[in-house]
Amino acid sequence: MKKPLLTPRDLPRLLLGVTLGVVGAVAVVSPFSLIPRAWVEAPTSLPAPEHLPSTGPSHATWPPHEWTDDPKWHWVRYDDEGWSTGYVGTYRSLEDLLGPAPASDRQLSVPLFPTVYQPDNLDKLYYDWIAEGPIERGDKVLVIGTGSGADSWAVALKTQSKVYAVDINPLAVLNARVTARLGGFELEAVAGDFQAIELPKSFRDFDYVLWNMPFVEAGASDENFLSRNFHDGDDGTIATRFLERLPSLLKPEGVAVALNYALARNYLNTPGTTTHVAPDDEAAITDTTYMLFVVPNPGTAQ
Ligand SMILES: C[S@@+](CC[C@H](N)C(=O)[O-])C[C@H]1O[C@@H](n2cnc3c(N)ncnc32)[C@H](O)[C@@H]1O
Repeated sequence: MKKPLLTPRDLPRLLLGVTLGVVGAVAVVSPFSLIPRAWVEAPTSLPAPEHLPSTGPSHATWPPHEWTDDPKWHWVRYDDEGWSTGYVGTYRSLEDLLGPAPASDRQLSVPLFPTVYQPDNLDKLYYDWIAEGPIERGDKVLVIGTGSGADSWAVALKTQSKVYAVDINPLAVLNARVTARLGGFELEAVAGDFQAIELPKSFRDFDYVLWNMPFVEAGASDENFLSRNFHDGDDGTIATRFLERLPSLLKPEGVAVALNYALARNYLNTPGTTTHVAPDDEAAITDTTYMLFVVPNPGTAQ
């Protein structure tokens, strides 16, 4: 005898199937979807990786960031006045920007990814030292916290060699790699907290280690400021760790160069260290005067 399509025994399974079908359809099409939102939405916050200290203002957010402005382009340039930088435009005008830039081998349009520090004319002391200081062709240079990679570009103009970099912000590492492609220089960049990361084996025997670093700043306690910018608080923790790590990175006669507020003199003060300020600032140096620290290898300096 031919079996009927449905028997009373099939009824429960049929009901279950119809119910699941209806629930599934509602889940997919309903604006009040039953699918847990976490499955479809990008997370708004990510857990900090283990290598990052869980406390401290620098790590209050992830990814760690300096800037929250829209992505954009900045030009960086060396001319008779030394280094300077300025706004070019947003990504929307990308085609316009890539056409004429770089205008010369002393100028580059640098993209700025979200969260990445934008090159600032206040940092001129540091950039002019790179251009006018003793860095030579062939020198091996590590740039800590390279951000957009603007300073790695400046270094490459001098060394004409591969530049090494590390930044705590993974977006900055990507940003710097793109800058290196646009600027036509070789960059080996890794992401991680300079204070804790185990750097690749090739990251040693440097002639120079450079860092336009988080500034030591007394009373920097404003919530908004802390969540947007790296800084070294007023205890110089980052500056102190920087000094501690230099002997493992530098050649015996190697030199480190750091930009910070003058207040960092309390920490960046190993034997042989020299400090420089802009000529306009020489008469009156305050805690917040921009100061360049030139630090001989603390492991070998007398
Ligand atoms: C003042 S910005 C300088 C950026 C770039 N060098 C320039 O001159 O435009 C400081 C940079 O240091 C990075 N940074 C802060 N703390 C760090 C850490 N512990 N390890 C590695 N990089 C760090 C930041 O992500 C940022 O890119």
